Amino acid sequence: MASVTPLSASVEQQLTSALSATLPEATDVDPLLRRSDRADYQVNGILALAKKAKSNPRELATQVVAGITTGDVIQDVEVSGPGFLNITLADRAITENLAARYADGDRLGVAPKAEPGVTVIDYAQPNVAKEMHVGHLRSAVIGDALRGMLDFTGEKTIGRHHIGDWGTQFGMLIQYLMEHPGELAPPSEVDGQEAMSNLNRVYKASRALFDADDDFKERARKRVVALQSGDKETLELWQQFVDESKVYFYSVFEKLDMEIRDDEIVGESAYNDGMPETARLLEEMGVAVRSEGALVVFFDDIRGKDDQPVPLIVQKADGGFGYAASDLTAIRNRVQDLHATTLLYVVDVRQSLHFKMVFETARRAGWLGDDVTAHNMGYGTVLGADGKPFKTREGETVRLEDLLDEAVQRAAEVVREKAQDLTEDEIQERAGQVGIGAVKYADLSTSPNRDYKFDLDQMVSLNGDTSVYLQYAYARIQSILRKAGDVRPAAHPELELHAAERALGLHLDAFGDTVFEAAAEYAPHKVAAYLYQLASLYTTFYDKCPVLKAETSAQVENRLFLCDLTARTLHRGMALLGIRTPERL
Ligand code: ARG
Repeated sequence: MASVTPLSASVEQQLTSALSATLPEATDVDPLLRRSDRADYQVNGILALAKKAKSNPRELATQVVAGITTGDVIQDVEVSGPGFLNITLADRAITENLAARYADGDRLGVAPKAEPGVTVIDYAQPNVAKEMHVGHLRSAVIGDALRGMLDFTGEKTIGRHHIGDWGTQFGMLIQYLMEHPGELAPPSEVDGQEAMSNLNRVYKASRALFDADDDFKERARKRVVALQSGDKETLELWQQFVDESKVYFYSVFEKLDMEIRDDEIVGESAYNDGMPETARLLEEMGVAVRSEGALVVFFDDIRGKDDQPVPLIVQKADGGFGYAASDLTAIRNRVQDLHATTLLYVVDVRQSLHFKMVFETARRAGWLGDDVTAHNMGYGTVLGADGKPFKTREGETVRLEDLLDEAVQRAAEVVREKAQDLTEDEIQERAGQVGIGAVKYADLSTSPNRDYKFDLDQMVSLNGDTSVYLQYAYARIQSILRKAGDVRPAAHPELELHAAERALGLHLDAFGDTVFEAAAEYAPHKVAAYLYQLASLYTTFYDKCPVLKAETSAQVENRLFLCDLTARTLHRGMALLGIRTPERL
């Protein structure tokens, strides 16, 4: 693994030392290096610096220019306007940098961080015996992308799928199953859809009985107690619900082309044994207090109607533990046993108050120390094309699989229309990659905390900021590389570069910086924006610079090399987001 210093970093280093030679009192200087149309980089931090030092910006800029040695990396630097610098890099430096990235395989010259932390990431957390909805889609898609990005930076990630597999509703379900055995088929005998329809049927029937029959209600209530006290027969039936649900979850995750590990499915029930201790410790420490029989935590700054404090309920008056108790117990486990330095939760923004209270409680209890960061990456709502929360025409929540199936179907139309040399099987395979990619990309390319419209027409459009556009860019490059036959891509640092080649090259150089920044900010949309721009710069390059018909054979090889590095970077970036890049489209 050979790490490659980004050109921007070399330039920045030279600039900073020239600046501090000129203005020794200016420490901690950010020269503000930007990519620009007029030069390779433009520096516009000098104005502000001059203001601070009460000196003339143009003079300061001229002095800085005098302090920079042009040569291997910086070919030319000039003052432009009052206090701006335009910097042009040497062609050779650009091509050599890219060649070193090209030689580094799929890390593209980007070194992982030297001192990685441990991030426990809580994402893709559906609920047992319930259908998954679009909210669960977002958590899965965003969580998977964040994990890919963090892994790339060298961070150690541990997934936790905090599925809803515990609670009073199981009393009703289990009691019903006890009285109507055989309603759930053995997990090995059903596919995802059958599993869900069995679960739905049992849910509806038990609910109806629960509402209509007081005796059943009472038996269901007793069943909750039996479940909580670990009664063997009750637990076995509970396990059947969990297993049947997992068949369904896995079928959806497979459709989403997402790998979920069984040992990372650690639901609410896993913390059951630790909850009484969590409550006891909180009460002993005085973090939680008894109020009307319940054990609760109060916060000065969290108040509801009439300025009444809104507490976090750790234990209900009837002795039952709920959602907060399992999350608090999970924190103890994640910090103490998994040694997390960061706890990341990819959960709907509507739960942000819950997490605020849970984190604050854990801090007061000392379970979250100063050395551990906790963050809820709250995401917004998925809206229909009409801008209202996504519903079917009948006003019901949309089934996740229907939505994915429809995306794949639309993608098939797009692929078929463009397909030249694809068989029907290949078209179907590509349709899956394009359709699921479209759904993921639409989600990831907007800032996660914003709502976004689920608009299939837009998502599978070939023009614009879509995954299909990026996938086509990738496939087109592969087709060029195939056409090149025996001519192999090779870097030629001696060649002069076209403006479109420099622009593409400098953007390729910025891949690592972009991923590190996006990972640190939990901002997958920054990776998406980078990739979209990469494809756009490639398109301009391809328009302006003939590849296979370039003038000299050295130029053909060098341009093929730019094509190939672009393709690899696209492939890697898309993979971080969980999106496939088919070789042919
Ligand atoms: N299962 C929950 C839901 O569907 C999400 C769980 C989020 N994770 C957590 N640690 N609370 O709303």
